[in-house]
Amino acid sequence: MENFTYFTPTKVIFGRDAEKQIGSILKEQGCKKVLLHYGGSSASRSGLLNRIEVILLQSGISFLSLGGVKPNPRLSLVHEGINLCKSSGVDFILAIGGGSVIDSAKAIGYGVANEGEVWDFYEKKRTPAACLPVGAILTIAAAGSEMSNSSVITNENGWLKRGCNADVSRCKFAIMNPELTFTLPEYQTACGCVDIMMHTMERYFNQAENMELTDGISEALMRDVMKHAKILKRDPTDYNARAEVMWASSLSHNGLTGCGTDGGDFASHQIEHELGGMFDVAHGAGLAAIWGSWARYVYQENPLRFAKFAVNVHNIPSSTDLEDLTEEEIDSLALAGIKAMENFYHSIDMPTSLTELGISVTDEQIQELAEKCSFGQTRTVGIVKKLDKQDVIQIYQNAR
Ligand code: NZQ
Ligand code: ZN
Repeated sequence: MENFTYFTPTKVIFGRDAEKQIGSILKEQGCKKVLLHYGGSSASRSGLLNRIEVILLQSGISFLSLGGVKPNPRLSLVHEGINLCKSSGVDFILAIGGGSVIDSAKAIGYGVANEGEVWDFYEKKRTPAACLPVGAILTIAAAGSEMSNSSVITNENGWLKRGCNADVSRCKFAIMNPELTFTLPEYQTACGCVDIMMHTMERYFNQAENMELTDGISEALMRDVMKHAKILKRDPTDYNARAEVMWASSLSHNGLTGCGTDGGDFASHQIEHELGGMFDVAHGAGLAAIWGSWARYVYQENPLRFAKFAVNVHNIPSSTDLEDLTEEEIDSLALAGIKAMENFYHSIDMPTSLTELGISVTDEQIQELAEKCSFGQTRTVGIVKKLDKQDVIQIYQNAR
């Protein structure tokens, strides 16, 4: 078991009507002027935005608004938000939405609290020393940004999608009412479930010694999400299924499923982020499209772990304890687990190839994607197998 630091400072207010507490929660934060930050139209269509504005007015909390965050949130709106906050004296950002809105809020928070160009933090030229406090009212269970230390932004100049991880950006609070996710389109629900699975799988597939408790938590979380994703396909307003998936979204990305491991792989995420940057695909769907190709490319580096995934997550029977199996038996279990995962993705109408994702990627584009993913061949990605540009090219090609 590796040493670890587990830091989850976000206060969680979970359940029906949770958002009604927003007035008192913001007062607890002692803020004077709040920026309401939100996406395209879902929060106003559902009436949520209006309800929050009414509560803030009744609570005497001064606020202004900036909507229009796109999925794969853009740097240009972040700049707009930074200027708005600075000129209006905003001292708290309330993100109403999903990962894109929360990530945009964190980026604005960095830009206000630090000197200089905010994109520097995403290019890893500098580390943010501070962030304006951010809180979230979550409307989609997916990215886990409500409890993670991460923000992912797309720079339209070059269509680069880059992440910045810093604990200073962790949300002060996350309001999670599963009912707020009832209005999600089926596709977005499924994309979210993939992302939750992947945040756990990226940590589960590692090269560390076994950490039984963490593995057990991860395996239970993955079984739980698959079960409830299927229920939500039949009944999007099943409260308990929405609640299970919503809580899983936070636990899958707040660090819990990485405790005592080597930090996990995250190559699929890095490979997908380039697809998001170039083709503007939904993050979860992009992950589903690439994962099988990644898994088949790397599983022989740690076949026992893939076999464990097959048995403990996908209930594929094993004739005996894994330790007593032959190499061939482990290999075949590992491959069966990968197939079972792809079958699950298909069962919720998620793609398992780039073609199914709806994009046709040329050889030249693959070169460009891999060049960007390897930061101009200056880094490798992944831990199960460290992948350089040529490996990443192969994974994109095999995913077509
Ligand atoms: O823009 P609106 O109209 O609000 O519509 C959104 C958007 O089109 C819609 N939506 C959200 N809540 C809804 C709703 N529609 C109906 N009813 C509701 N209740 O859903 C669409 C997707 O929203 P988005 O916020 O983009 O989804 P998600 O939470 O999946 O976030 C994806 C972004 O997060 C990044 C991804 O790369 C992507 O940019 N990630 C952030 C992470 C983090 N900060 O920790 C980790 C992840 O790995 C991920 O990279
Ligand atoms: Zn993700």
